[in-house]
Amino acid sequence: MNKTEVIERTAEYARETLHSDSSGHDWWHVARVHRLARELGAGEGADLYVVELAALLHDISDYKLNGGDLDEGPRRAFAWLVGLGEPEDLARAVADIIATMSFKGAGTVSAMPTIEGKVVQDADRLDALGAVGVARAFAYGGFKGEPMHLPDLPPHLHASVDDYLNRQGTTINHFHEKLLLLKDRMNTPGARRLAERRHRVLEQFLADFLTEWDAGDLT
Ligand code: ADP
Ligand code: NI
Repeated sequence: MNKTEVIERTAEYARETLHSDSSGHDWWHVARVHRLARELGAGEGADLYVVELAALLHDISDYKLNGGDLDEGPRRAFAWLVGLGEPEDLARAVADIIATMSFKGAGTVSAMPTIEGKVVQDADRLDALGAVGVARAFAYGGFKGEPMHLPDLPPHLHASVDDYLNRQGTTINHFHEKLLLLKDRMNTPGARRLAERRHRVLEQFLADFLTEWDAGDLT
């Protein structure tokens, strides 16, 4: 099988596996990350074969959705590529990128050692920013059943004690805890440039959201 065929078969595998996802990890997220990673990778002189395969397989089994198994994604990516007749070295390189990407999700900061991994990670992070990033955050929040926003009221004004205690777990809070920090975590200059604009989209969205929340546009 030549490289083009492997890429096509792998895209098909990802499409079939993720087509019905509604948590923001659907096939089109993978397609966007694939495209961005290829562009960023070309600019960095990365091995585009590794970049494309890692991008296509990076969410094949997310630990947040598969019951917490961090190894399953890398394992499935490795098995898939070896199953297509690709060398173990290549499969290992792809699986290692996916493993390092999911560790960050678990709250551990682990540096991505290879340029191929750096651009795929950048592409994945870029897709959490901008208008698409806003949409994905609320899609994921809805999927998880978290409230959009709970304003900072004193405890006695909250609907319930639970409501007050859970106030960190809102989608708006996710912007502050994670999304607004991503622009300074890009690995490559190309990604940093794109992140600047996408970051401004998030800031503008948050400002508009909070204005409308309080009907601040009445006057
Ligand atoms: P990826 O799997 O693409 O590396 P994540 O799994 O961390 O990234 O997040 C996937 C998407 O879900 C992102 O758009 C992110 O903003 C969103 N997301 C993750 N956790 C939350 C949360 N607690 N609330 C809202 N959105 C979230
Ligand atoms: Ni992803």
